[in-house]
Amino acid sequence: MLLHLSTWAEVGEFLKRSRTIAVPIGSNEQHGPTGLLGTDWLCPEIIAHEAQRTADILIAPTFNIGMAQHHLGFPGTISLRPSTFIAAIGDWTRSLAVHGFERILFLNGHGGNVASIEAAFSEIYAEASFAKRRAGFALKLCNWWDLNGVGELAREQFPTGHGIHATPSEIAVTQWAFPDAIKSASYTPQIAASGPIREALDFRARYPDGRMGSDPGQATPEKGAALVKLAAQSLVRELDAFSREAVPG
Ligand code: NI
Repeated sequence: MLLHLSTWAEVGEFLKRSRTIAVPIGSNEQHGPTGLLGTDWLCPEIIAHEAQRTADILIAPTFNIGMAQHHLGFPGTISLRPSTFIAAIGDWTRSLAVHGFERILFLNGHGGNVASIEAAFSEIYAEASFAKRRAGFALKLCNWWDLNGVGELAREQFPTGHGIHATPSEIAVTQWAFPDAIKSASYTPQIAASGPIREALDFRARYPDGRMGSDPGQATPEKGAALVKLAAQSLVRELDAFSREAVPG
């Protein structure tokens, strides 16, 4: 069930069956010469939308702008600074908690978001801790590539040249969902360099075509289909386990 295609009454009915919701969260940023700018929000959205076709789970609208300051040297990147991102995650969470959601899973598609999402969780929990009360909800961060079995499948599909940015696995996922938007380019070198991540001009100088350690030329829609199928099944199990998690005394 997709929240944005539901009515308030339908969400109210859902809350009688479940108090769990998943929020796809990502980033809109350059993904090398062939990767779509939306790759990091499209991947968790594609997986979450596929998952809800087979299970009674609720998916929130995609939080599609994240912390991508280091990609601002490339046209099309849109970034929130960490403090803005953390504040926005807080208000998304508080809104969902007002309605009674007690388990909120953020399905993330961008490594650069991780530190800020964790910091946002600490900010939100701190409100309850300082007030000496229960938060009333639990938050969970799950990167789609860490869903059960997905990393193993990606390593099997791409034993070399997976890398960490504009990876063939994430590009394969978008190729499966948007075959009309598949791009091609010749990569030089075939596998991009890796190194540190600092500010945007430093990033662009180190990684001139935007890739980090990857060879996106290995991506195919068929490999993307296998990744999405497995990730969607794993997400359903993850949400089920999260829903059943016991809350101590
Ligand atoms: Ni990415």
